[in-house]
Amino acid sequence: MAIDRGQFSSRLGFILAAAGSAVGLGNLVAFPVMASKNGGAVFLLVYILFVAFICFPVMLSEIALGRHTQRSPVGAFSNLSAGHSGWRLAGKLAIVTPFMIAVFYTVVTVWIAIFLLRAVSGGLTELAEEASFSTMIGSPTVFIYFVVLQIMVFGILLGGVKGGIERLARVLMPSLMVMLLGLIAFVLTLDNASAGLRYYLIPDFSQLSGSVVNAALNQAFFSLSLGMGILITYGSYFGRKDRIVASTRMVAFADTSVAFLAGLMILPAIFSFNPATNPEDLSSSSIGLIFTYLPQIFLSMQTVVGYFGASVVATIFFALVFFAALTSLVSILEIPIAYMVDEWSFSRRKAVLIQAGLVSSFAVLAAMSFGMSGFLTEFITYGGGQKSFFDLLADTFSEVILPFVGFLVCIFCAYRWKNGGLSAELAVGDSGFIGSALDKYLNFALRTFIPVVLLFVFINSVSVKYFAFDLVGLF
Ligand code: PHE
Repeated sequence: MAIDRGQFSSRLGFILAAAGSAVGLGNLVAFPVMASKNGGAVFLLVYILFVAFICFPVMLSEIALGRHTQRSPVGAFSNLSAGHSGWRLAGKLAIVTPFMIAVFYTVVTVWIAIFLLRAVSGGLTELAEEASFSTMIGSPTVFIYFVVLQIMVFGILLGGVKGGIERLARVLMPSLMVMLLGLIAFVLTLDNASAGLRYYLIPDFSQLSGSVVNAALNQAFFSLSLGMGILITYGSYFGRKDRIVASTRMVAFADTSVAFLAGLMILPAIFSFNPATNPEDLSSSSIGLIFTYLPQIFLSMQTVVGYFGASVVATIFFALVFFAALTSLVSILEIPIAYMVDEWSFSRRKAVLIQAGLVSSFAVLAAMSFGMSGFLTEFITYGGGQKSFFDLLADTFSEVILPFVGFLVCIFCAYRWKNGGLSAELAVGDSGFIGSALDKYLNFALRTFIPVVLLFVFINSVSVKYFAFDLVGLF
């Protein structure tokens, strides 16, 4: 079947698009929150080890699968397993997951848009007040921003791979890095910032627990856009002359650097604005944490640059976060869309419009889980607490399921894709790959401990999240 799949215009195009997908709210919002609530430096260390030894091999596997089959996840799995129904199901899981992620991601992106507009209109003082975040997200005005966001997102998606995703990512990455470095330099001059720096950089191993390990692995998967078919889909747009390993390494490095820098900005700020912060108090932090501390950082700049200057800096920063979120959101939605185009032969336009309707409906429900609807706010009880519809989606699809999809990808590449299929695909455009240390490592690790770790973390995440019981305590 001749399908016009679109292809990235160059190797740089792939790197930018994949980094554009990877760098998003996961790095700038979720990572600092996770690091503060899970012991700071210990979390950072486990996170980096996971990225290097577990996630990077899974990233390579996903991209290789995509390039080899030229399909989105369902097609990729079923193609290489000769249509085996179990594997088709695995591919479907890799479609439902990004869809659900898109739902709660849309809601958080709307919050960022509101912050951006408030900062532009001089409302920084108000944003920095603790109560303003919960009032804001519980108000029906979010829907005005919601509609505008949906028009932007689905408009970009109609433009296709090259026109839409690549162009946006090109300017964003460098500006974001420069901005983060500037803000870190400022935050580190604040009083008591060094306490946060110590918490973030000097590990206290007594804080290590099963929950820290779960959180680090789930966060790494989420942040690298892994375990949800996105890299399979992007791999299918990857040219055969290009080297997968080198490009992937850059994406993983860029993503991890942005997360690290976001932590380096936020953690010292927390300790500086609240000198009495006790690491134990941080264990219950939620996403609201960052939405309170960010405006405070900007507000404290007024002593140096005045209120107007501080508002300008805040505006630029929120604009960058907003665009980072937008590129990620667009990339998540690319998966169910590519699926409809590949498997159901829908036109791209039709697939985009159907997804727009579906995602918007679910996202409206998720947005109403912050007080607007009692039913959705107190949707379900698990893990020892009342959870909203939004919590249920965010917990399940960002903190539990990804390592499981990663596990399936490993098992598939190691045991189903026979005759060294993965090595051979990674060697296309990269003749030195076969026999390299990385090749040997992948051959060994993907068959043995990587799937074991992924499966264990998945099971333990289910246990911790839904039943408040850490299996690590049993050992
Ligand atoms: N990786 C993105 C982030 O860190 C989120 C994302 C998830 C993007 C899933 C694509 C797919 O924000």
